[in-house]
Amino acid sequence: MPVIAIVNQKGGTGKTTLSTNLAWAFAENSPVLLLDADPQGSAQDWADSQPKPPHNLNVKSVLPGRLIQDVRGQSADRGWIIIDGPPGITKTSADAVRAADLVLIPAKASPFDVWAASDIVEAVKARQATTKGSPQAAFVITMTRPRTRLGRQIDSALTEYGLPALRARTTERVSYPQAAIEGSSVLEGRDQTARNEILAIRGEIERLFNGDAS
Ligand SMILES: Nc1ncnc2c1ncn2[C@@H]1O[C@H](COP(=O)(O)OP(=O)(O)OP(=O)(O)O)[C@@H](O)[C@H]1O
Ligand SMILES: [Mg+2]
Repeated sequence: MPVIAIVNQKGGTGKTTLSTNLAWAFAENSPVLLLDADPQGSAQDWADSQPKPPHNLNVKSVLPGRLIQDVRGQSADRGWIIIDGPPGITKTSADAVRAADLVLIPAKASPFDVWAASDIVEAVKARQATTKGSPQAAFVITMTRPRTRLGRQIDSALTEYGLPALRARTTERVSYPQAAIEGSSVLEGRDQTARNEILAIRGEIERLFNGDAS
């Protein structure tokens, strides 16, 4: 039952977009529980608007202060748990880091997003220091513009934090908000590039859990 927390204190970095699309992607092969730990309730709103929810995907809003109990309350064979974290450094985001086997930090390819990630990186490292390195953690670069130098510059800025970035990332594509409006995922739409981006992120995560970093 791997637990993935998708967190970043900065708003609008693509946490919910990544959470909903990855939840959909993992649900193609195994049960998924998507925990909406953001009081804005975006993932829950998305779930409530689904015309055809995948049968393997459950979405649950987390009541204040209940995240750890909600994660522990799941049986060990439930497949994947994905936590859509709130903006801000809050008790909930700290609990998400605590509950996670893998923390993903979505960051836009912008220096403001890189600078703003410092608090969550510190929170992750503080947790790792008390637990012999768990959870694993990685940045996911979101909304990149293809064919710009900025992506590579952001990569080198992020390495200064000492956490890796997944090789797979999302580019800025209208199919992401479009899928969200439709209560769906880019996996269901016609945009093959977006689909491949999410599947590449899923594949990289699966390899992290299988101990294969290639
Ligand atoms: N790859 C992408 N291409 C285009 N638009 C995107 C992409 N990823 C996210 N967006 C859009 O960017 C905005 C912010 O994304 P999202 O809501 O996922 O961020 P968030 O980090 O969850 O925000 P919050 O901190 O408010 O919860 C949304 O309008 C979303 O549709
Ligand atoms: Mg969100």
